Order: sequence, then C-alpha cells, then structure tokens
Amino acid sequence: QTGSVTYDPGFVNTAATKSAITYIDGNEGILRYRGYPIEQLAQGSTFIETAYLLIYGELPTPSELDAFDQRIRRHTLLHEELKGFFGGFPRDAHPMPVLSSAVSALSTFYQDSLDPFDPEAVELSTVRLLAKMPVIAAYAHKKSIGQPMLYPDNSMGLVENFLRLSFGTPAEPYEPDPLIVKALDQLLILHADHEQNCSTSTVRLVGSANANMFASVSAGINALFGPLHGGANEAVLNMLRKIQADGISPEEFMEKVKNKEDGVKLMGFGHRVYKNYDPRARIVKATADEILEKLGGNDELLDIAKRLEEKALADDYFIERKLYPNVDFYTGLIYKAMGFPEKMFTVLFAIGRLPGWIAQWRELMEDPEKKIGRPRQIYTGQGERQYPGL
Ligand code: SDX
Repeated sequence: QTGSVTYDPGFVNTAATKSAITYIDGNEGILRYRGYPIEQLAQGSTFIETAYLLIYGELPTPSELDAFDQRIRRHTLLHEELKGFFGGFPRDAHPMPVLSSAVSALSTFYQDSLDPFDPEAVELSTVRLLAKMPVIAAYAHKKSIGQPMLYPDNSMGLVENFLRLSFGTPAEPYEPDPLIVKALDQLLILHADHEQNCSTSTVRLVGSANANMFASVSAGINALFGPLHGGANEAVLNMLRKIQADGISPEEFMEKVKNKEDGVKLMGFGHRVYKNYDPRARIVKATADEILEKLGGNDELLDIAKRLEEKALADDYFIERKLYPNVDFYTGLIYKAMGFPEKMFTVLFAIGRLPGWIAQWRELMEDPEKKIGRPRQIYTGQGERQYPGL
C-alpha cells in the first residue's frame, strides 16, 4: 500500500523509483496523471493545462493557467545564432537528431538557467524548453523541405504556433485548422507522461548526475528515437506502406510476424507494461476515425491497420502474448492526414512527452534521497587470468 494505490510485492522489487506523477496499471489498462484519468484529461483538458498539472502537481486556476501560457509565449524566440545551427545539417537529416542536438545546444545559449538547484533557473529552463522545443521541431521540418523559417507569433498558443511554423510560409497568410489544433492538442496530452518508460528513465539517469535540464532532455530525445520506443509511430506507417506495396493481405503479413520472419514485428503492438489495451490507443483510434474522415486521410492504410488490429485481437499468438495496440499504432495515420511527413512523427511524440520529462527531472532534483544512477552488472566474462610473459 503506497498512499492511494496498492501493488503486489513483486512489483515493488522491480520498480526503479518512486514518483507522484503518473500511475499505470498495465493489467487493467489504467493511466492517470497526478490522479486524473487520461480519458478525462483527453476530453476536458488542454496540453498546456496538462503540462502545468504534470509539472506543478495540481490543475491551475484560470489565472495561473493564463500566466503560465503567457510565460511560455514570451520565450518562443530562439537566439538568432541558434537559428544558424540548422544550416549545419544535411537537408535530408532526420529531425530527431537535429532536435536532440539543438536542445542540447540550448545549454550553451541560456547559461543563466542551468543550475538544477536554483528554483528560478529551473522555472526559466522549464518555460524556455516548453516554448522553444516546438519551434526547433518546426524549424527542423522547414530545413528538410527547404522552406524559410518564420518567426513565432506570440498572439497564438503553443499548438497553433507550432502548426503555423510547420506549415506557414512568408508568401501567404496561414490560419491553423481548428479541427487539427484540437486533435493535435489531444494527442500531445496523451503523450505527455508515461512513468518510467525508456526515454524518461534516460532523462532521470542523466539528471541523476546533476546534469542540467537541457542536457537531460536531449538524452531522452535520443532514447525516444529508437524504433522500439517513440520511433514506433513512424515504423507503423512504414509497415502499412510495405504491406500495401507488397500487395499482401494483413493475414499474410500476420503469418510473417508469427513465424518471426526476418524478426518482423507488428509495430504499434505490444508494451512493456500494458498487457491490456493501451488506454491511449483507444482514444487515438476514435480520433483517427473522426479526423481521417474529415481530412480525407489515406483510407487504404487505415483499412489495413484496422484489419491487422481485428485479426491480432482474435489470434491466439497475440492473445497468449498479451499483445494489444499501443499509443503508436494509429497516431502516424493522423499525423500524416494533418500533413506531417513520417520523419516528423517521433518529433511530435517528443513535443508531447516534454512536460513529463520536465516533471520527472524536477521531481528527481527535489528528491532528498536522490543518488547518481549507477546500476550494477552481473559479470559473465572470463575469470582472472595471467597476462602473457608476466
Ligand atoms: C512506446 O514504456 C512505455 O511506456 C513506452 C511508451 C511511452 O508512452 O513511453 O508507451 C511508448 O514505446 C510504446 C511501444 C512502441 N513500440 C512498438 O510498438 C514496437 C513493437 N513492440 C515491441 O517491440 C514490443 O512489444 C515492446 C518492445 C514494446 C515490448 O516488448 P516486451 O514487453 O519486452 O515483449 P517481449 O519483447 O518480451 O516479447 C514477448 C513476446 C515475444 O515473443 P516470444 O519470444 O515469447 O515468442 O511477444 C512478442 C515477442 O517476440 N512480441 C511481438 C511484439 N511485441 C512483442 N511479436 C510481434 N509483434 C510485436 N509488436
């Protein structure tokens, strides 16, 4: 029994840390941020409000929310020399390494807010990251398509500004589609935190050495890039396209998966914790149906995805292994319908996960029992032996 929830003893031995931020019950498919069910936040909250909740522990009053939003808007400008940074990458650079490099570089431009134990510095780094990471992400996209980078417009909120910086050009006015704004805001909420996943564990491990917030988040971005983690949303689209291009049926593809041909997996399925339907996937699927109908997304790929899910949920191979759709299974189809290229999908995951990384890093820094992360290894190598000739 820990406060409001009970765990079986076996779990406690496997848990890496204690945290008051996010609760997951993998068997029941439960996810709560600071006690609020993800379904309710996805329905009633906004990404900025959810970010505040994760970072400060309570839902903001209207005036607290407005002040937080205004503080973030005032920090959207990148240092002009950082803008030049993008010129150093090849045009076909994947935006994730560009994002992790630029976020790490923030620590060289904003040296006045690096001290992890100075509350003002931590607040400043918090709003700087929340404000600037979406801008960096949009600039990485613009760089890859050879278009000019717009300056942020602080009359817009975070999501609207990000869409404008991603799709707007100096050549004509751009107004984000309210449908896309609402859907993207909800997707960012769904990605905002997820307990000790691979990238959050990375942020905590790097932070445990008292590394600054920018350096810790940059490391988390690199972990998220892995195809088994955040990179899965891009891998799902590649998988659906390959099924379509190869002209094989979902059933034939499933046989390849079950036979483990070339290590092929059903990307977007399975989870380290959820051994039930990922509650986020359920919400995303509903949004996918709604937005793809209105935006006219690629119906054939959605149809393949739905048939794969339908087959997997009824197939003993998947049932025995408790493999269900996870958050990444449908998100790529929505991002594609919004106009994002596949290389940007994991970047969108990173923008969503940022408040969680920040909240977890801050919680770690405030933990009086914090110790530097130093896992041990079980040595399986050679026993002691003599160097020749000595
Ligand atoms: C995210 O941790 C988080 O919270 C992550 C995340 C977050 O919000 O931060 O939720 C985001 O990363 C979601 C997961 C995205 N990744 C994918 O969709 C990639 C495909 N999924 C897998 O690679 C896999 O399911 C993992 C890595 C997600 C979880 O792997 P597990 O729990 O360690 O499962 P396992 O590797 O021990 O596999 C158990 C069995 C194996 O078969 P057997 O050896 O018993 O015969 O299930 C099989 C695996 O081969 N299996 C799959 C499979 N996932 C596991 N078989 C086919 N397709 C899959 N996707």
